[in-house]
Amino acid sequence: MKLVNKLAVVTAAASGMGRAGVEKFVAEGATVVAVDINRERLDELAAAGGGKVIPLVADLTDPEACRRFVHEAAGMLGGLDLLWNHAGSTVPGGVEQIDLPSYDRTMMLNVTSGVLACAEAIGHMRKRGGGSILFTASVAGLVGSMGSPIYSAEKFAVVGYAKSLAQRFAADNVRVNVVCPGITDTPMLADFYKDHGGSGGPEAYEAAVRGATPMGRLGRADEIANAACFLLSDEASFVTGIAMPVDGGYTCR
Ligand SMILES: NC(=O)c1ccc[n+]([C@@H]2O[C@H](COP(=O)([O-])OP(=O)(O)OC[C@H]3O[C@@H](n4cnc5c(N)ncnc54)[C@H](O)[C@@H]3O)[C@@H](O)[C@H]2O)c1
Repeated sequence: MKLVNKLAVVTAAASGMGRAGVEKFVAEGATVVAVDINRERLDELAAAGGGKVIPLVADLTDPEACRRFVHEAAGMLGGLDLLWNHAGSTVPGGVEQIDLPSYDRTMMLNVTSGVLACAEAIGHMRKRGGGSILFTASVAGLVGSMGSPIYSAEKFAVVGYAKSLAQRFAADNVRVNVVCPGITDTPMLADFYKDHGGSGGPEAYEAAVRGATPMGRLGRADEIANAACFLLSDEASFVTGIAMPVDGGYTCR
């Protein structure tokens, strides 16, 4: 098992890849505080977690909540080894129809929530002699995205921040990495389609994604969770500052 006795926090944990990550990390020996805005789904996840999943409701568009959840989680766990800043959302509106309130909201969720969480987490990790931080960006944080330029800008910001933290905290024995999923089959897919899918319908959108992906399919949540587990675990002990695509070859082009 890769995460025996590790104390972990995962955000956006009640659905999709975050949920798959919680399940994977517990199976690998961790105890996990699962943070999400959706209380009902968190409770379902915790009920199936055999006492190894602790639910924590937080709205990560609230800066105070982003600071608070880290300390609450470390208090519940008795320390903190691993943090996966997975929360994020699509950005409604196009280039010429920017809606500033939703721009600010997604910037908060996609970038600032992780920045604030790291600011609080580093002290807890130092007390444990080190730790491992993971961010979720996207393939849109590695290459530009014609359909979603603002989302892409936010995900590039995540990658830049994580690479900088990796340099800064290496001396503290804290590794910082990024997982960059390609389009993955989770409930968020419906948001991608709604916000950036064009006029062809969901099937046409999915077909276009498959066509742009050498492996010819969407990702699965468990495939991203496996990569997240590796990057957070001691198996990746010499890996820091990377942004790893898990994308069926999308970014090979
Ligand atoms: N699904 C994809 O194709 C894809 C691809 C690349 C990157 N990503 C990234 O993965 C992350 C999440 O994707 P997913 O597919 O696992 O999503 P998902 O839709 O399955 O789950 C998102 C979770 O976030 C929670 N959430 C929403 N707003 C919140 C808030 N304000 N505070 C706390 N929790 C909140 C929701 O309740 C939900 O449980 C995002 O960072 C996204 O940008 C997704």
